[in-house]
Amino acid sequence: MPLQGLDAKRLVIVAGKGGVGKTTTSSAIALELARKGRKTLLVTVDPAKRLEDSLGVPVGTEATPIQPRLWAMMLDPSAVIAAHFKERMPEAGVTDHPLFKTVSSHLPGLNELMAIGKLNDLRRANKYDAIVVDTAPTGHALSFLSAPAAIREVLADKSLVSWAIKGYSVYQKLAGAARKLQGVFAKDKKEAPPDIDFERIFEDMDAEAERIQEFLRDREHSALLLVTIPEKLPVEETCDLDEAVRDLGMTVHAVVINKVQPPFGGDATRLDALAAHAAASRAFAAKAAAATGDDPAFVEALVAAAEFGRIRRGMNLEWIAELEKRLPAVERVEMPLFREDVQGLKRLGAFRAALFEA
Ligand SMILES: Nc1ncnc2c1ncn2[C@@H]1O[C@H](COP(=O)(O)OP(=O)(O)OP(=O)(O)O)[C@@H](O)[C@H]1O
Ligand SMILES: [Mg+2]
Repeated sequence: MPLQGLDAKRLVIVAGKGGVGKTTTSSAIALELARKGRKTLLVTVDPAKRLEDSLGVPVGTEATPIQPRLWAMMLDPSAVIAAHFKERMPEAGVTDHPLFKTVSSHLPGLNELMAIGKLNDLRRANKYDAIVVDTAPTGHALSFLSAPAAIREVLADKSLVSWAIKGYSVYQKLAGAARKLQGVFAKDKKEAPPDIDFERIFEDMDAEAERIQEFLRDREHSALLLVTIPEKLPVEETCDLDEAVRDLGMTVHAVVINKVQPPFGGDATRLDALAAHAAASRAFAAKAAAATGDDPAFVEALVAAAEFGRIRRGMNLEWIAELEKRLPAVERVEMPLFREDVQGLKRLGAFRAALFEA
């Protein structure tokens, strides 16, 4: 079954374990959406320059045109944080403030929140019809998706951090009042330290996290795709990730099972019979070699290579069956292992076709 149901999505997030094919899959999805006439932005939050390898062209931190209707960009979360606050409070130097530093160091996934916040801004700006997000390896995807909930929890009323912010705000108000009094009595007004309304800043952050939570949970417009390969650990991680995602109130749109060993093209029963009996295999090799003038060892090596692929595929199919058993409700899409890396737009085009037209 090809990958379906993405045509009306405005946000597609691609997550999964390291090296399974997230960047390749997200690039292929972006190509497909652009082909279908939608203005598409492919965003990577992976600081490594893998997206450039995949697309075969340089990608900057601003939207870079790749093809008609397709742009790509790298998102640097710390730059986004700085920009976010600079935009809202140009003078105040919020991110350098000791209280902000202390509180934000206790906020799990602030980087991630800001990164998704930026995506949300991009989405709301309506410049693109669809945004496809390539997440960074391993546990990162989960911290990315859980950042809004985690931050909201910390900022929730009773937490210590929240009291620190409130306490500081009260202190600032008092200090401000004191300065005003001073101003009345003293003629020489000294430069006051900037008053930063931290209560408002962190309230804004909470509101932002809530909006982000909403749009991540919006099944009509947002889709989360998990990429995996048909092996034990990645399959187990995929099941764990699915559970964690459901705990966050989101659902997995589909699992892409990548790098599946392709089937043996010929009569598999015959191949199995040969491979199961060394004597049969040798007799076949001798006969084939005699008929073709080849070395029998060469024919035996061909049989062994074909059988190697057969066995690998058998193992892959077991893990695919396991995934089916454990996540029966989630759509699965199998992608073959290609002979070569999927790098550059040409090979990516073939991957795209296999993903959407198989
Ligand atoms: N089906 C496939 N057949 C062959 N090679 C593939 C396939 N899918 C991906 N690759 C190759 O595997 C490598 C890893 O793929 P990719 O970079 O997409 O994975 P990733 O999950 O984004 O990795 P990372 O976690 O490091 O970001 C790349 O070299 C890519 O070209
Ligand atoms: Mg990647």
